[in-house]
Amino acid sequence: MNLTNTNRFQGIRTPFYYYDTDVLRQTLNVINEETKKYPGYFVHYAVKANANIKVLKVINEAGLGIDCVSGGEIEQVQKAGFPANKIVFAGVGKSDWEIELGIDNDIFCFNVESIPELEIINEIAEQKGKIANVCFRINPNVGAHTHANITTGLAENKFGIAMEDMEKIIDLASQMKNVNFKGLHFHIGSQILEMDDFVALANRINELQDKLESNGIKVEIINVGGGLGIDYVNPQENPIPNFKDYFETYNKNLKLRPGQTVHFELGRAIVGQCGALITRVNFVKQGSVKQFAIVDAGMTDLIRPALYDAHHKIINLTSQATEEVYDVVGPICESSDVFDKDIKLNQVKRGDLIAMLSAGAYGEIMASSYNCRKLPVGYTSDELK
Ligand code: LLP
Repeated sequence: MNLTNTNRFQGIRTPFYYYDTDVLRQTLNVINEETKKYPGYFVHYAVKANANIKVLKVINEAGLGIDCVSGGEIEQVQKAGFPANKIVFAGVGKSDWEIELGIDNDIFCFNVESIPELEIINEIAEQKGKIANVCFRINPNVGAHTHANITTGLAENKFGIAMEDMEKIIDLASQMKNVNFKGLHFHIGSQILEMDDFVALANRINELQDKLESNGIKVEIINVGGGLGIDYVNPQENPIPNFKDYFETYNKNLKLRPGQTVHFELGRAIVGQCGALITRVNFVKQGSVKQFAIVDAGMTDLIRPALYDAHHKIINLTSQATEEVYDVVGPICESSDVFDKDIKLNQVKRGDLIAMLSAGAYGEIMASSYNCRKLPVGYTSDELK
């Protein structure tokens, strides 16, 4: 990401998010190039990662579909121009108004996570005289090598339908008049860098498909969810995730039946590296054992370090002076309001601009107004020339 020209940031209130649309467009190009190799592969952007309308518009221009988990997301992506027939709608606890919104808009597919949810979708669709497409989210009981808070595919997690109930729910759906069974949906977790985890998922899907096939059940859609990780340690060296290996892994390991399409729900891998949180140093404080760079961004602007112990590379955009060691902390009244500890930065002084990299995914969208703080604004490189 190009952060050399800081003049463009003059007069903008910090902290704010900055999105480099060159990085975003290059990422989208690579995705389109790689998926072109495999007919029937279709990527839905997981809007939960970043719902900034300017970012969404760039993603829509590249032709991707979209993965929503709330009625609010469905409304937001429609504002950005995404057509409803590219929307998949997941979530364990959809409210009636959200189901209605999906049905009214004839979305591509609901990813259904329980029998009671299926019954309500069928009931609402019947009231509206419509037929809703449904995929069933199956909990594959496949682990992923990532942080415990972001694994989703284990039997103990709240997500999805147990494998042993898969045939029961498909059978139930076949008896309902207002739902149309389309396929299976999975998601094992996020920030996954080991392709073996995706191999394990593909193997599990193969087993389940064999079982269904032996019972004469046809599946059109296989949705493998998202989860591809990004390089938080060396983001400048690796701005674009390894989509080649990712899609190749599925192509090699997932056994498809004729006519099946494979759907992906990638969030972080699409937007993670195009965004940075830009913040200003308010004070440098010498503690008895530490030197603190106190910045004007807090965990309210970027909660990932406090919530998941996540690492975001931090750089000083203003100074080239010799490096010193700092704890970079925010102004929030919580001891977990720490971005990183004992890191080297070019010597920091009051007023310096600091960038926290790889913050395009689960950054701006997870911001809160705790301590009555203003929400950070997101700007793109297209607007700040
Ligand atoms: N599909 C489903 C069903 C999901 O639950 C998720 C993410 C995705 C797709 C997109 O996953 P991705 O490609 O972005 O890994 N806030 C956390 C991440 C939570 C992910 C939740 N589900 C973080 O900041 O690391």
